Amino acid sequence: MFLPRFTTLWLAAALLTGCSPKSQDTSKQAVAPDSDGLALVSADSAAPVADSLAVDLLAFKEQGLLTPVSTVRVADDPVFHKAKTFRAVDLRVLLRKHLPLNTLDTANTQVVFECEDGYSPSMPLRDLLARQSYLAVADADAPAGQDWINAVKEGREMKVAPFYVVYTDVPADDYRYKWPYNLVRLRLVPATDETKVLLPKDGLMVKGYDLFRTHCLTCHALNGVGGQMGPELNYPMNVTEYWQPEHLRAFVKNPSAYRNNCKMPHLSYLTDAQIDEILKYVGYMKDFKTLAKR
Ligand code: HEC
Repeated sequence: MFLPRFTTLWLAAALLTGCSPKSQDTSKQAVAPDSDGLALVSADSAAPVADSLAVDLLAFKEQGLLTPVSTVRVADDPVFHKAKTFRAVDLRVLLRKHLPLNTLDTANTQVVFECEDGYSPSMPLRDLLARQSYLAVADADAPAGQDWINAVKEGREMKVAPFYVVYTDVPADDYRYKWPYNLVRLRLVPATDETKVLLPKDGLMVKGYDLFRTHCLTCHALNGVGGQMGPELNYPMNVTEYWQPEHLRAFVKNPSAYRNNCKMPHLSYLTDAQIDEILKYVGYMKDFKTLAKR
């Protein structure tokens, strides 16, 4: 069981109507942003079991809960590609204060980051808690009167506001660590939420599955789990059911060769063999359609 039985408060309407793009999904449970949340842990077996805990960062900010703010320096920022200084809140302290972390199995809990543009990377909570993670609330290098400087990726300006997760002790190339910017919300979910609907039964597909999780899931959902920046790839129709195989492969290799102004980036670091593994897995999943509850 993901959580011992305990009660969570349904988040006050004020929080649910925050600015998160997914705030219309009222089926999600969340913890009230006060330390009383911790007092809710109870042995009451009749209490509902929470399957998801969420933090609406914009609502937290409005309520003055994103303090104290300190100045942190990141030697090699993977989004800005240089040394950066941020005004930031200690993310571990923030999570410990507002979520019942001591009741969670941190090795089997995923932190899902939800960005305004639908980008949604996730990582094990245990990894996040193992390093000095911060929620940057402003860019200390920004000109006076301005909180943020936009980042530039492949010639495109990326909005970093309102929040950005950074680390002071994680190398920029450690792919296990996510650095989501334009972040509005984070959720803790049982790791099994993801594996239940994504894990292939066939061992030969595991390689493609791992690659898919690392390189595609941040933007694409499959069976309802994953990012919302790009389209769902399996439900109700699997992309291999309506794309010709050679076009599908060519599209993933170079999306802008198909669509002008394409928002899917050119994933140049993937080899042809890796793309084939990924598409083999995606195609295999057409026989395992389901829609995860969000
Ligand atoms: C940074 C986000 C991002 C990543 C990472 C990403 N995609 Fe996309 N993808 C998109 C977006 C956005 C679109 C919609 C593009 C458009 O129509 O302009 C898209 C479109 C697609 C489509 C076309 C779907 C359709 O029917 O129109 C396929 C197939 C696809 N992506 C597969 C993949 C695969 C496989 C990976 C991993 C190797 C991947 N994508 C990684 C953002 C992403």
